[in-house]
Amino acid sequence: MAKYLVQRSEPLKGEVNISGSKNAVLPIMAGTLLTDEPCELSEVPALRDVYVMCDLLSDLGFEIEKNYEENKVKVIPGKSIKTETPYEHVNKMRASFLVMGPLLARKGKAKVHMPGGCSIGARPIELHLKGFQLLGAKITEEQGYIEATTDGLVGDSIYLDFPSVGATENIMMAGSLAKGVTVIENAAQEPEIVDLANFLNRMGAKIKGAGTDTIKIEGVEKLNGCKHSIIPDRIETGTFMVAAAMTKGEVLIKNAVPDHVKPIIAKLKECGAKVDITDEGIFVNGSENPLVATDIKTLPYPGFPTDMQSQFMAMLLKTEGESNVIETVFENRYMHVGELNRMGANIKTDGNKATIRGDKGLTGAEVIATDLRGGAALVLAGLVAEGTTEIGEIYHIERGYEKFVEKFRNIGATIIRVEN
Ligand code: EPZ
Repeated sequence: MAKYLVQRSEPLKGEVNISGSKNAVLPIMAGTLLTDEPCELSEVPALRDVYVMCDLLSDLGFEIEKNYEENKVKVIPGKSIKTETPYEHVNKMRASFLVMGPLLARKGKAKVHMPGGCSIGARPIELHLKGFQLLGAKITEEQGYIEATTDGLVGDSIYLDFPSVGATENIMMAGSLAKGVTVIENAAQEPEIVDLANFLNRMGAKIKGAGTDTIKIEGVEKLNGCKHSIIPDRIETGTFMVAAAMTKGEVLIKNAVPDHVKPIIAKLKECGAKVDITDEGIFVNGSENPLVATDIKTLPYPGFPTDMQSQFMAMLLKTEGESNVIETVFENRYMHVGELNRMGANIKTDGNKATIRGDKGLTGAEVIATDLRGGAALVLAGLVAEGTTEIGEIYHIERGYEKFVEKFRNIGATIIRVEN
């Protein structure tokens, strides 16, 4: 099993170029199921979850031309499209469930294995299914599979009990080929939702309001193929911004969208880091002021992203004083706490609240990545810990970060990937 070996690093210096967004490209790749014409995607990050989505689309009868060197993927519909997804894909990646809306809308039926929970929470899908039912689909559950069928979806108003990203995306895709108008209220507002809506509108959909809490979709008969470039990854952006701040570094983050990381910029400044938006990118300077303790509360966008909670926790270990973190989006997203405490951190959790005492040095240890973002937090902690930090189960990290080790080494981090 491959591992990362991370050592205490000098302040990070230099430039890092942000890749396309994992959480934008996955629903967009599922969206290619809505047309019988080819779709050409660029700025596609070369990472495990994208490989799984490519395998899933191939299994459904699509031809996939991959050029990861140039971050390009072309999806070409085959003669016959299957409507049932094998268990193995959903098992590897929850986002596989995003093929349900497009298949249901395009083929009138979809059979997808129920996505299980993962280390960060139970992650139910009832909001997705309620949405499909309101559009007229019949839902049955059998032997772990969810089957949805319809003689033709009909638009309706759907109020989401929680602004779920996945449910908003699945319903938006289903509504784009439904008869009449679908309105999603209390919709998720993440930039990835906007990128998906832009992609669908390029295919000929009629979607308004993406990025707000009310999305209006006027269904159309047919969608066409298109070319689309994926937005930069705001969580990768945030991860490198935190790395620069906590190592007292000076890093220019290129190909990033400042508007997408406003809550991260605000919290970094509150901690004492300097963040400047320049024409070339986001410049983070952690060398001027000592970092101070700060409280974080995760919320749906535009609130502070839950996908940055663990990385910030690693940084708060480098501050004077006590910080509090409250995780409101996922019920079990503190798996990394135990691993950080093995490195000598002093973090106490009580339900969805974590209390971090920052004034204690860290020491390298053997730890494991418990999930994607928790794994990234361990790399960050390793950069400021005495000795060597040995991180196992790095497949979690490589699901969501392209060229992670290479990018860190380019800005002076002491990190290597070893095969055991
Ligand atoms: C997306 O997951 C992201 N994944 C997650 O990123 C991210 O953490 C999450 O949104 C929140 O921002 C992708 O885009 C592929 P949700 P998703 O539906 O769509 C509950 C990462 O690290 N819920 O908004 O699964 C759910 O249990 C990953 O890149 C229901 O109760 O998130 C959770 O507590 C991790 N019923 C909350 O809502 C439902 O039907 C948010 O889930 C659906 C969701």
